[in-house]
Amino acid sequence: MPSYRIVVLPGDGIGPEVISQAVRVLETIATSSPEISLQLESHDFGGCAIDKHGDPLPPSTLQACQEADAILMGSIGGPKWGVDAKIRPEAGLLKLRKALGLYANIRPANFASDSLLDASPIKPELVKGVDMIVIRELIGGLYFGARQELGASAEQPDTAWDTMIYSISEVQRITRVAARIALAANPPLEIHSIDKANVLAASRLWRKVVTETLTNEFPQLKFDHHLVDSAAMLIVANPRKLNGVILTENLFGDILSDQSSVIPGSLGLLPSASLAGAPSAPSAPDFKPTSGIYEPIHGSAPDIAGQGIANPIGTILSAAMLLRYSFGLEKPAKAIEDAVRKVLDTGVRTKDLGGQAGSEEIGDLIVKELKGLL
Ligand code: NAD
Ligand code: IPM
Ligand code: MN
Repeated sequence: MPSYRIVVLPGDGIGPEVISQAVRVLETIATSSPEISLQLESHDFGGCAIDKHGDPLPPSTLQACQEADAILMGSIGGPKWGVDAKIRPEAGLLKLRKALGLYANIRPANFASDSLLDASPIKPELVKGVDMIVIRELIGGLYFGARQELGASAEQPDTAWDTMIYSISEVQRITRVAARIALAANPPLEIHSIDKANVLAASRLWRKVVTETLTNEFPQLKFDHHLVDSAAMLIVANPRKLNGVILTENLFGDILSDQSSVIPGSLGLLPSASLAGAPSAPSAPDFKPTSGIYEPIHGSAPDIAGQGIANPIGTILSAAMLLRYSFGLEKPAKAIEDAVRKVLDTGVRTKDLGGQAGSEEIGDLIVKELKGLL
């Protein structure tokens, strides 16, 4: 029987609150499926690790992540370690993503449940039938280019800057991930590549490489290009126009994925997978990452932390992605998604979706449904 080692990083704010529900879901899978053995171990990461170790990513946490079969994360950050702090939790997350080579960030905004139609601030007739997956390049662009802080240079005392930098191979590999995900659907999904090629050199490279890679290696796929400003408008004005795969660079993907959560109705619903080692050649048989962090796309939500009211569904769906992508366990992954859908269909919801249930109650209901499905 294969035994999988999962490192759990609860983090800060609502992180531990949502993680505890996702851990219950994974424990339910392990208990109800004798053929699946999961070993979970928690490590300090983020602001709480700064407080304890003076480092958001202590060496022991990094090593555990490097040795793990997969990582499940809550969220990090908060006002205690704000943007002006010398050591910031967010720097630990970026360091971890880079250290593990997690270049492919998959953020599905297509969790289909018609019972959620009323939860979206967008009109139901516009939300119905939206099926969108954001594929965000995660270890390049502005996040990792050269940077100068204000006051760091005697020659430029009044200046701070960041650099958006991409290489051809970085764009090729993320385009291939998007193409493989598009091809895994039947019929294949259309790819919408998003850039700012009318202004930025890095975006002109992005557009050229996406076009060449898709045309030469995936001639069966349909694709188009959008400028990021008008794409941002479409996501809320007529999201079905972007049905399929949204392929974009790091910062645009960060912004557009939070924005896409408005369609199903809450940031608390959306999961993500950040993956390394996905096939770089189009002929590779399957999408099988060598390393992966699975986490909701939201942050530590300091405004509601400690109240037990955070929506745990994004984290629970991230656990489903973990089973599917890192372990190839499609059946329990789908069972989790079906259990979540069933609970949402009952109308019981957390506050972000207009309900009154707490995180624990949603966890209880999902675990109960899941037991019936395994
Ligand atoms: P946020 O995502 O934490 O919160 C934005 C809004 O969405 C808040 O009103 C919050 O209450 C709500 N929200 C988020 N998740 C929710 C959930 N599960 N259930 C119900 N409501 C939810 O964004 P922010 O406030 O801008 O950032 C707070 C901190 O989180 C910052 O330090 C930021 O850097 C960090 N952050 C971390 C991650 C991560 O760990 N991957 C992601 C995003 C932001
Ligand atoms: C996310 C977050 C991170 C990002 C922050 C916390 C560094 O917003 O995962 O979306 O910008 O990538
Ligand atoms: Mn973000």
